[in-house]
Amino acid sequence: MTEGVFKGLEENRIFQPSEDFRKKALIADPEIYAKAEDRLAFWEERAADLSWFKKWDSVLQWNPPHARWFDGGKINASYNCLDRHLEGPRREKPAIIFEGEPGDSLVLTYAELHREVCKFANVLKSMGVKKGEVVTIYMPMVPEAVIAMLACARIGAPHSVVFGGFSAEALRDRINDAGSKVLITSDGAFRRGKTLPIKQNVCAALKGVQGIEKVIIVNRTGIDIEIIPNRDVFYHDLMKDASPDCPAEQMEAEDILFILYTSGTTGKPKGVVHTTGGYLTGVSTTHQYIFDIKEDDIYWCTADIGWITGHSYLVYGPLTNGSTIVLFEGTPDYPEKDRFWEIVEKYKVTILYTAPTAIRTFMKWGAGYPDKRDLSSLRLLGTVGEPINPEAWMWFFKHIGKERCPIVDTWWQTETGMIMIAPLPGVTNLKPGSCTVPFPGVKVEILNKAGQPVQNGEVGFVAITEPWPAMLRTVYQDDNRFKDAYWSNWPEKYFAGDGAKVDEDGYFWIIGRVDDVINVSGHRIGTAEVESVLVEHPAVAEAACIGKTHELKGQAIAAFVTLREGVASSDELVDELKKYIAVKIGAIARPDDLYLTEELPKTRSGKIIRRILRDIAEGRAIGDTTTLADSSAVEALQKLSRS
Ligand code: WT7
Repeated sequence: MTEGVFKGLEENRIFQPSEDFRKKALIADPEIYAKAEDRLAFWEERAADLSWFKKWDSVLQWNPPHARWFDGGKINASYNCLDRHLEGPRREKPAIIFEGEPGDSLVLTYAELHREVCKFANVLKSMGVKKGEVVTIYMPMVPEAVIAMLACARIGAPHSVVFGGFSAEALRDRINDAGSKVLITSDGAFRRGKTLPIKQNVCAALKGVQGIEKVIIVNRTGIDIEIIPNRDVFYHDLMKDASPDCPAEQMEAEDILFILYTSGTTGKPKGVVHTTGGYLTGVSTTHQYIFDIKEDDIYWCTADIGWITGHSYLVYGPLTNGSTIVLFEGTPDYPEKDRFWEIVEKYKVTILYTAPTAIRTFMKWGAGYPDKRDLSSLRLLGTVGEPINPEAWMWFFKHIGKERCPIVDTWWQTETGMIMIAPLPGVTNLKPGSCTVPFPGVKVEILNKAGQPVQNGEVGFVAITEPWPAMLRTVYQDDNRFKDAYWSNWPEKYFAGDGAKVDEDGYFWIIGRVDDVINVSGHRIGTAEVESVLVEHPAVAEAACIGKTHELKGQAIAAFVTLREGVASSDELVDELKKYIAVKIGAIARPDDLYLTEELPKTRSGKIIRRILRDIAEGRAIGDTTTLADSSAVEALQKLSRS
C-alpha cells in the first residue's frame, strides 16, 4: 500500500481515500448524510441548481406508487445540458471528445454541440416530429447519437434508444410498442475493423411495420445500403440547410424525457418511463457528488448509450454538470488489448467509469497492457452493472488506479434512473465488493418477504422505501405492469429484484437478482424473453433458461430444451438454436450452453424447478428433488450432467 495515499487497513479491507483526496473533494463533510435526512429539503435544494423556466409548486406529490416531483415547474433537459453553459468559459470547453473505432477523433465544444443539437432539432421538426411523440434511436456510439438524444429533448419528443447490438426483431418490437414515426440510425457501425450492417437490420425490422414514416441515416462507415425512396433520408443532407436557431421547449417537470426498454420476468420488454425535472435533479447530483466532479475533469463512462448508464452518466448527468466527456465507439481489444489505456493516456482521462466484466477481462489479459501506458491522469474509478468480486476490485485499484484512486462501486438500475447506493469518495471509506451506503436522500432497506427488515446481516430483498426524484414513473402504456412488477410485494415500497445484506457498519453487499433475470456482463436478460424465443422455433416443445456463474461475464445463460415429437437431437440443432436466439434478440442473449433433454424438472403443479437446472449447469450434485412430479426427469438430466 502506498504510504500516506491510502491509509489502507488491508487486513479488514477498509480503504480510506487519501487525506489529499478527501481535502479536495467536492463533498468532504459527512454532515451531508444527516442533512439529507430531510429528504425533500435536500432534493429541493439540489433541483434549484438546475435552470428552470418556471419554479415548481410542490417538491413531491406521492400517491403510491405514483410520484410527481417538482410539479408545476418548467424545464428543458437539452437547455440544462447546453444553453446554460454558453454564457461563461464553458462555452469553448470540450463537451464531447469523440474517439472513433478506427482512431479518428473529434472534439465538440459546448457551443458547437449546442449548434448541432439546435440544427438537428429543427430537422426533426421539419420531419413533423411533435412534442410528446416518441422517436426511436438505433445507433452506434457516435456524436450524432448524443446530438439526436438532446435534439429530441429540446423539442420535447421522448426518445427511445435501442442498443445497437439488438437484433432487427428486438428493434421492431420496441418501435411498435413506442409507436414511433421517426427512426434515427446509421448506415453501419465499426466493430473490430469490420462493419456491422445497422441499416440492414433497420430495413429488416421495418418490414411489416406501418408506423415509421422517416428514417434518418447518419453516414458513418460508407457501406452500401438499401434506400427506400421518400422514407429514408440522410442526416448530413438535412443538416446542411437547417437553422441553428431553435429555442428549447418549455417542458413540464413531469413530461417524459425518455423511455428505455429493459428485460423483465415476462417475454415482453418493459418501456421504463423517465420524466424530466426529477430525473435531471437525480442524475446531476449523483454524478457530481459520487464522481467528485471538478471543472477540469476528463470524464469517461464506457457504457453504451443504449443502456441506462449511457443515458444517465454519459449524457444527461455529465452534460448538465458541464463536464467534458469521452465518447468511445470501439471495443477494449481493438486494434490491441490496451485500447482503453491508450485512450486514458491520449486524452488524460481523470475519471473512468466501467463494468466489472470489463475489469475481469483486463485481469485475464494481464497487467502488461495497462503498464505500458501512462495512467497518471486518473484520480477516480467507478464500477457498475453487477457485484464486483474483491479480486477484481483489488486488481483495478492496483493496476489501473495505481493505489491512488478511490473506486466508487455504484448500485442502481434502469428503473432507478440514478445511482442509489455508492460511496461519496471524500467521505465514505471503501470495502472491496460492497457498494457501501445509500446516497444522501435515498432510503434503502433489506426486507424479508413479509416486508419486515431482516435482522443481523441476514440476506433479504432490496427495497427502496421512499420515493426518489429519478425514479421510473410507470411502464410505457402499461401502468398495471408497473404496479405488479415493482409495488405489489410490499405496498408503498419499491421492490428492486435484488438480494442483498447489510454488514455491521451499515454497508450493502448486493448478491444478485432474485427474480428470473440473468445478469450477463452487466446486462439484464429476462429468462422468459429467451424462453419465449426458443419455443417459437419449430423444433422446440419447451424451454427453460437459467444463469450460471461465468468467470468473465458474471453470469452466462444456460438453456434447457425439450424437442417436439419426432425431432432428432443433434449438435447442429444445438448450434442452430443458439444462433436463433442471437438473431431474434441479439448476440448478448446467446446461451453459452444449450442442453437438449427429454424432460424438464417440474413440480406437481407444473412449475419448472430452476434450482435443479442450476445444479446441472454448474456441475453440482443435484439437490433436493422431493418436490418433483416425475423423478424420471432427473434421470434424464443426470445423463446430461455426465455427458
Ligand atoms: C441490475 C440492474 C444500473 C446500470 C447497469 C445495469 C445489477 C447494477 C450493481 C452493483 C451489484 C449491480 C443489479 C441490478 N447491478 N449495479 N454496483 N453491484 N449489482 O442496469 O440493466 O437495469 O440492471 O444490475 O442486479 O438490479 P440494469
